[in-house]
Amino acid sequence: MKRLLLILSLVVVSGLARGEAALDWTADEVRAVGSHGPWPPAPVRDPSNRISGSPAAAALGRHLFEEPRLSSRQVTCGDCHVAGRDWRDGRARGLGKVELDRRTPSLWNVGYQRWFGWDGAADSLWMQSLRPLLDVREMAGSAPAIARLLREDTALACGYERAFGERPGADDEKLLVDGAKALAAFQQTLVTPRTPFDDFRDALVAGDRAAALRYPVTAQRGLKLFVGRGNCATCHFGPLFTNGEFGDTGIPFFVRPGEVDSGRYGGIARLKASPYNRLGRYSDDVSGVTSTRTRHVEAQHRNFGEFRVPGLRQIGRTGPYMHDGSLATLEDVVKHYSTVSLDRLHSDGVPLVRPLGLTTEESADLLAFLRTLDADTPELPPPPPLCP
Ligand code: HEC
Ligand code: HEC
Repeated sequence: MKRLLLILSLVVVSGLARGEAALDWTADEVRAVGSHGPWPPAPVRDPSNRISGSPAAAALGRHLFEEPRLSSRQVTCGDCHVAGRDWRDGRARGLGKVELDRRTPSLWNVGYQRWFGWDGAADSLWMQSLRPLLDVREMAGSAPAIARLLREDTALACGYERAFGERPGADDEKLLVDGAKALAAFQQTLVTPRTPFDDFRDALVAGDRAAALRYPVTAQRGLKLFVGRGNCATCHFGPLFTNGEFGDTGIPFFVRPGEVDSGRYGGIARLKASPYNRLGRYSDDVSGVTSTRTRHVEAQHRNFGEFRVPGLRQIGRTGPYMHDGSLATLEDVVKHYSTVSLDRLHSDGVPLVRPLGLTTEESADLLAFLRTLDADTPELPPPPPLCP
C-alpha cells in the first residue's frame, strides 16, 4: 500500500507538469473503487431460461423486439426502448395507449439484474418481457395471436426451430412464454462498452501511474465523494453501480392527486401472484435453485415507496431521471441528493439518504465523475435474416 501511495505521489509530480494530477488514495478507497469493476462482467446465463446465452435465440429475440405483429396495436418493444437512443424513449413517463405511470428504463446491462421493473414485479427477464406483450396499455397482444404468428410466419417459425431445437407446438401459452424467453436472450446481449472510469479503476487497482493520470482530477474528487462522504456506493454498488435491490430517495410517489405508486410493496404482491414467476411451471430451472429469493421475499412496511436502485452506467445519456422521470437533468439529481429533506422519505428505518449540502465545486466534481460512466456505443446493425 505504501508503495502505491508513493507511486501515485510521483504521478502527481510528473503529471502536474502537464496540468494533470492524481490524488492520494487510501487502501480503503482503492478497495471501494475496485469493487465497481472489473468491466465487462462474464456473460449471463439464466437457468430459468433454457435458451439463455444462445446466439440463435438472441437473433430470434432481436426480430421479435421490432415485430409489430406481436401487438394488436402494431406497437413494438423498440418503439419505447429505442435502439440508438440507449434503449429508452427519453420521455418522463412511458407512452403507450395512454401515458404510463413510470419512466421507460434503458435496457443496457439489464441481463445482470435480479429483479425487473421499477418495483421488481418480475424475477426474470423473460417474465418482465411478458408484461408489455399482454398489457392493454402497451402492446395489448394475446397468447393465441402471438402463438399463431410464431407458428404461421415462415421466417419466425424457422427462427424458433433454430433457437429451441423443435418446431413451434400447439400450446399457445408455452409459445407466448418462449417468445418472451427469446426476447430475454436478446436483451442479455445489451452490455455497455468500457468507460473512462473503468480504465481509471483498473489503473488504480494495478498501481499503473501513467494510465491513472488520464482520468480528470475533478472526476477523481467526485469519485472520492461517491465512495466516501456521499454514501452513494451503499446503494449504487458493484460493477453495475446498483445493489440490485430497492431504496427510498425521497422522490414523491404520487401518480395522480390521491393516488400513490407503492413501488416495491405492490411489486412483491404482483410477483408472488403471477403464474410466470420462477416458482411457476414455466421456469426451466429444474433444480429450483434460482427460485429461492422469490420463495422468501415478503413485503415489509418499509418497502412502501421504494424503487429499484438504478445502475449508473450510461447515466449521462439516459435522462430524464427517477422512476417517474421527475428530475430532468443529472444536475437536478445531484441537487436532489444535496438538499433532500428527510421528511420526504416514505419508508421507516434508518435513512441511508440524507442532505449532503454539497458546495458548488463538490457538485461539479460529482457530476464530472458520473459523466465518466458513459461510453459511446456502436450502432447495432440491422438484424440478419433468421433463416437465410
Ligand atoms: C409503451 C412503452 C413500452 C413498450 C411498448 C415496452 N416497454 Fe418495456 N418498459 C416500459 C416502462 C414504462 C417500463 C417500466 C415499467 C415498470 O417498472 O413498471 C418498462 C420496463 C421494461 C423492462 C425492465 C427493465 C429493468 O431495468 O428492470 C424490460 C426488461 C422491458 N421493459 C422490456 C420490454 C420488452 C421486451 C418489450 C416488448 C415485448 C417492452 N419492454 C415494451 C415501457 C415500454
Ligand atoms: C438509499 C439508497 C441510495 C443512495 C444512498 C443513493 N441512491 Fe441514487 N438512487 C437510489 C434509488 C432507489 C433511485 C431511484 C429512485 C426513484 O426512481 O424514485 C436512485 C436514483 C439515482 C439516479 C438516477 C438514476 C436514473 O436512472 O433515474 C442517480 C444519477 C443517482 N441515484 C445517483 C446517486 C448519487 C450520486 C448518490 C450519492 C450522492 C446516490 N445516488 C445515493 C438509491 C440510492
